[in-house]
Amino acid sequence: MTEKTLNRSALTAHAVRKAAEISPTPFYIYDEAFLRARCREMKDMPNAYGITVRYALKANSSRALIRIIASEGLGFDASSLNEAKRAILAGIEPDRILLTTQEVPAGDERDDLEGLLMQGLKYNACSLAQLASVASFAARNKIAIGMRVHPGVGSGESVTRNTGDKYSCFGVHLSDMEEALAIARGASVVIDRVHVHIGSGGEPEAWRENIERELGFIERYFPDATTINFGGGFRVARMPDEQAADIFDLGMTAKQAIEQFRERTGRKLKMEVEPGNYIMANAGSLVSSVMDIKKTGDDGFTFVLVNGGMEVITRPLLYGSRHPFTVLAPDGTVRSNEFDLDSATTEELIIVGRCCESGDSLTLDAGHHIVPRAMARPEPGDWLVVGGAGAYCASMSPFNYNSHCQAAEFLLAENGDIRVIRQRQTLEQMTQNECD
Ligand SMILES: Cc1ncc(COP(=O)(O)O)c(C=O)c1O
Repeated sequence: MTEKTLNRSALTAHAVRKAAEISPTPFYIYDEAFLRARCREMKDMPNAYGITVRYALKANSSRALIRIIASEGLGFDASSLNEAKRAILAGIEPDRILLTTQEVPAGDERDDLEGLLMQGLKYNACSLAQLASVASFAARNKIAIGMRVHPGVGSGESVTRNTGDKYSCFGVHLSDMEEALAIARGASVVIDRVHVHIGSGGEPEAWRENIERELGFIERYFPDATTINFGGGFRVARMPDEQAADIFDLGMTAKQAIEQFRERTGRKLKMEVEPGNYIMANAGSLVSSVMDIKKTGDDGFTFVLVNGGMEVITRPLLYGSRHPFTVLAPDGTVRSNEFDLDSATTEELIIVGRCCESGDSLTLDAGHHIVPRAMARPEPGDWLVVGGAGAYCASMSPFNYNSHCQAAEFLLAENGDIRVIRQRQTLEQMTQNECD
């Protein structure tokens, strides 16, 4: 009989026990088969004249994972020069990477950027200053560049993940477009890619509405554009009650719109998308150990203290995001699983981490209020398995806060093997660059 999985990945109690024999908690485990399936689903997204899927490296930049994604034929979206360099160190060819960053290249970084552009790195100008800085160099070397456009409208799973409205400053705003085009014309640089990313995990309908809007930008401002990049941001369902974006359906809308654009203008556009969450979120789980249980009186709450809170999974504190929990006994018995809850055996509990922060909790809402969650009451020594922890967890955590060591990462390989893909950091490594 096949063992029950604990969340949307193929992780089982058996796999958790195997990993726990290798490294102390907390640690992350990523499901290779899931990751590959998501890469293939994205590559199969309907399109009119070709699609390039660029995995958003910021979601998780662990080398082994990048290599798996590269082996599926995806390109990459880097949000800093270092992220691009890190991917290159992992063996990714520069011409598979598109750099879309808030950084304005200066000093040594500028030299590095020029070197990488010469090796094929693709660049999106995201501000007038970036454009002015790169345009002449690009033109001189016959390198076409892209432009990230600020569309004025966006959508995110929380306000801080909306990257398209007036409260965020990603890309060249439409009100600056004439000036940007004048800079480009002055330098004789070709703009062959137009990019818009409206936010992360927002309304799929907003993603759909951006398609026509962005095509409109191309028609109006970018006569040389051959590629339209719609960014990432596809909503994922981490929790049982959440609904993911329909990739096929969004792809069909994009395909039809790009075909109609061709009928209208005679121009054939290639399409690009940049999923981070959609590929990585549900591939990963975080495993921590229950250390203690405390109460705050009759009108208070019951707190379960685990050794993996905000320093390894910051999303609940940062966004109020929910992740599914499994309470697992050391012998592998599932005490409760968010996808299969039995109310007779659950209690309303609060999960907190070990950091000296009252907000170090995995059960918070977007207003930073504690929201107890139904689960079986664990015993100290049990494991808490947190699903949906593949994206923006290992890569986006203040892991040395309170001097905790960066957690180990494992791969649950397609053949069922558990492989270490990042060793747990040691205290010596944490302090090695400190000087007296
Ligand atoms: C430019 C760009 N592309 C892609 C992404 C990936 O978004 P997601 O992980 O929600 O798919 C982001 C996320 O912030 C981004 O800023």
